[in-house]
Amino acid sequence: MTNGFGERFHIEIYGASHAPSLGVRIEGVPANMELSEADFAADLERRRSGRRGTTPRREGDVPHILSGVKDSVTDGTLLEIAFCNENTRSSDYEQFRFHPRPSHVDLVARRKYGEEFDLRGGGPFSGRMTLPMVAAGVVAKRILGSGVHFTTTIVEIGGERDSAKFDEVVEAAMRDGDSVGGVIECRISGIECGVGEPMFDSVESVAAHILFAIPAVKGVEFGSGFAGVALRGSARNDAIIDADGRTRTNNEGGINGGIANGNDIVVRVAIKPTPTISRQQQTYHFGNRQIEPLNAKGRHDACIALRAGVVVEAAMAIALADLTLQK
Ligand SMILES: Cc1cc2nc3c(=O)[nH]c(=O)nc-3n(C[C@H](O)[C@H](O)[C@H](O)COP(=O)(O)O)c2cc1C
Repeated sequence: MTNGFGERFHIEIYGASHAPSLGVRIEGVPANMELSEADFAADLERRRSGRRGTTPRREGDVPHILSGVKDSVTDGTLLEIAFCNENTRSSDYEQFRFHPRPSHVDLVARRKYGEEFDLRGGGPFSGRMTLPMVAAGVVAKRILGSGVHFTTTIVEIGGERDSAKFDEVVEAAMRDGDSVGGVIECRISGIECGVGEPMFDSVESVAAHILFAIPAVKGVEFGSGFAGVALRGSARNDAIIDADGRTRTNNEGGINGGIANGNDIVVRVAIKPTPTISRQQQTYHFGNRQIEPLNAKGRHDACIALRAGVVVEAAMAIALADLTLQK
């Protein structure tokens, strides 16, 4: 099983949801960058549970820098950031070994790795694996520099686009023992024209690669995306208004030919409804060899999108840092 991403800014994520620890090893971090454990606090806090609609599993999420930093300055060697898992309740997951959850990974993990594979807490497929990704995102943002700004918002929950109604939509799903999905939009300003390569290392290709690594992501679109193709070319084309290549509209989401065109990069990410729900579901039981009702136990997010904004942002920062270093 490999878990690496990136050429110049290369990350390897290790561990699992209920393993003693998890973390990230990063190669390609330039020397002499200021970096301390306190720098991770704000982004890690944005990913933490606590808000209504998020999992009751609370973790300290304290980052430990194990290598690559001396006296709060990077030394140019491999950077490792580790976290401990402290609040696990593994027995909740025994039932899924023989009775796989619909739309979760239990069945494919069993078929691919065998019945004994450790899927406690979702194992290496868990949303918990996005914790080290957020940490790597903090480092990537540092490489991109203070001129690059990320604005990330939830633009849709459960099909509702009015943000004033989001809490109500999540609450209604929770009352029914159910879950809801959402759409996250991330806008990035300050990426200079020229970042990205033609074809396989295009900004879209590299960004989509890492965005789809986030568990529960089922769609990615740039600029006006799917809706934009309903327009005629004359309505959709982005008129260029100055020598820097600024455009009046931004249907391209800041990318042409796979290369950043200097306008804001705009990406939207679809996060599916949490697969584990407390409502009864019918699903195949491997022991009894028949379809049986599943009453799933455990602590789960009712709406993953509530916690995933900063993860999307981290993924984009990692992709853009990698491409910026390639440039
Ligand atoms: C931040 C975050 C939190 C998540 N929390 C849960 C959860 O509480 N329960 C659950 O069943 N899935 C959760 N997931 C999603 C599963 O990990 C994911 O659906 C599963 O591994 C199957 O992968 P797929 O949805 O990409 O096909 C979460 C994902 C993220 C990014």
